[in-house]
Amino acid sequence: MSTKMTAPKILARKGGAKLKMVTAYDYPTARIADRAGADIILVGDSVANVVLGYEDTLAVTVDVMVHHTAAVARAKPSAMVLGDMPWLSYHTSVEDTVRNAGRLVREGGAEAIKLEGGRKRLPMIRAVLGAEIPVMGHLGLTPQSVHAMGGYRVQGKRAAAAYELVSDAKALADAGVFGIVLEGVPDVLAEIVTREIPVPTVGIGAGRHCDGQVLVLHDVLGLGGGEYLPKFVRQYGSIADDAVAHLERFFGDVETGEFPGEAETYHMPAESEEILRDLNQMASEPTPVADDLLADEAMER
Ligand code: KIV
Repeated sequence: MSTKMTAPKILARKGGAKLKMVTAYDYPTARIADRAGADIILVGDSVANVVLGYEDTLAVTVDVMVHHTAAVARAKPSAMVLGDMPWLSYHTSVEDTVRNAGRLVREGGAEAIKLEGGRKRLPMIRAVLGAEIPVMGHLGLTPQSVHAMGGYRVQGKRAAAAYELVSDAKALADAGVFGIVLEGVPDVLAEIVTREIPVPTVGIGAGRHCDGQVLVLHDVLGLGGGEYLPKFVRQYGSIADDAVAHLERFFGDVETGEFPGEAETYHMPAESEEILRDLNQMASEPTPVADDLLADEAMER
């Protein structure tokens, strides 16, 4: 049986073994995520902050997302390649939404797409599903709404807002999404949503009751630039610090001449080396003919 993760297989994990999801934005990080056993690799629009150095995710376009999704897809992971729909790629019209989702699939090699928002996104979600592209929802702290939310704030802390989110989750599940990311919500809300809907929930800052968990790969590995990490991140490594230490050793070896050594050096056959040295020697020594020509030239002046 193929080990390739698909939307139906993810749907079938509801209430079963926890789903493992992580972001990746290029070929090497996709290979790392896949080797570690990810079920879903999310080519998140967090590429904007994490890789491209922007303040928020609003800067990235469909072209950027296609570029990064294609790099991840070229790793041919067993994990599902989930392409994130960037801001304004699904807000203007149903037609634009299907066209942009189609670009992530056709040009980027995505096997499903994710988009943020609740019931107001239903026409777009239905249209993408109608084009046979599996859709994952994303509710709660939706980073593309940073200005509307007034910052990156935990959502659904009050009963009324939490109840709205439960209704959004039910509506998305009814529409046919194969999963929903719950970001930045109280654990009890994620617990209720997870219990109430028949599709898996994948949490990020949503407590332990979700059907799976997702984090940004650079946060997990400590591969970022040392900036602020949200409370919900557990950092398992400090790869950026390790990388600096390795590069410092390399630069030290360059300074001392320790690098490159014999093992990193190419040689030519001894007889070729001798001929090359002789040729070079002859070229650098003034020949009698050259000396005569130079003397003639001096006389003419
Ligand atoms: O873009 C992203 O990384 C995400 C995750 C935080 C779920 O949407």
